[in-house]
Amino acid sequence: MKVLIIGATGKIGRHTLAEVVALGHDVTAFGRSVSRIEPFERLTIVKGDVTNAQDLAAVMPSHDAVILTFGAPLNWKTVLVGTDVCETGTRAVITAMQAAQVPRLVAMTSIGAGNSSGHGSWPFRNVIKPVLLGRIMRDRTAQERVVRESGLPEWVIVRPAELTDGPKNTNLREFTSFDGIEEPSAISRLSVAAYLAGKVSDKSHDNGAVLISD
Ligand SMILES: NC(=O)c1ccc[n+]([C@@H]2O[C@H](COP(=O)([O-])OP(=O)(O)OC[C@H]3O[C@@H](n4cnc5c(N)ncnc54)[C@H](OP(=O)(O)O)[C@@H]3O)[C@@H](O)[C@H]2O)c1
Repeated sequence: MKVLIIGATGKIGRHTLAEVVALGHDVTAFGRSVSRIEPFERLTIVKGDVTNAQDLAAVMPSHDAVILTFGAPLNWKTVLVGTDVCETGTRAVITAMQAAQVPRLVAMTSIGAGNSSGHGSWPFRNVIKPVLLGRIMRDRTAQERVVRESGLPEWVIVRPAELTDGPKNTNLREFTSFDGIEEPSAISRLSVAAYLAGKVSDKSHDNGAVLISD
């Protein structure tokens, strides 16, 4: 398959490029700061902005699946004013996918989005999310709504728990509901990348959301 990664210049995105190729796919990296990406075999690098419809229309044809790993930076503006980059960017990606007849979307969002709100470690759910992430999570929840209402034939939402730079864990917990659970903890960016790459062909959580954690 040929897989397009939007947000490929980010920390998770760069790990995801390697994981997708390791599974035997070809991969296209899309992002603004493409000088961060080291070239390697079966990788195409395309500079572009996820909010720019022309950039997306140009890159989309001939792909079989799209993985979203982009997100707003955590800074005073996104914390105090807010952002809609995930909602508007995802809407633009889906429009380009539909025009190019690309069927499959693997959308990474975040713990705290949608019905995962109120979950996570004690500091995350009682301090970090309420104090810092309220507006950013509103954008993530809106992004999930755009995916659910997309009408795409195949989609899945993947919500990572709190991110670390630790090693890859291949024995993750997967949450699709939150009744009586032991709260999600953390997950490494490497583990998220491997999981997202697997979701290119693993359809076990399609048309829904799965939260992943150590
Ligand atoms: N911190 C946590 O515990 C946690 C937990 C769950 C989920 N998350 C989410 O995970 C996301 C990814 O994590 P990460 O560590 O990989 O972050 P990261 O290194 O900051 O990567 C985010 C990427 O999004 C891209 N991006 C932002 N705006 C864009 C635009 N307009 N067009 C194209 N690309 C754009 C950026 O690429 P360019 O600047 O090159 O365009 C950047 O490389 C975060 O944004 C966060 O929301 C975080």
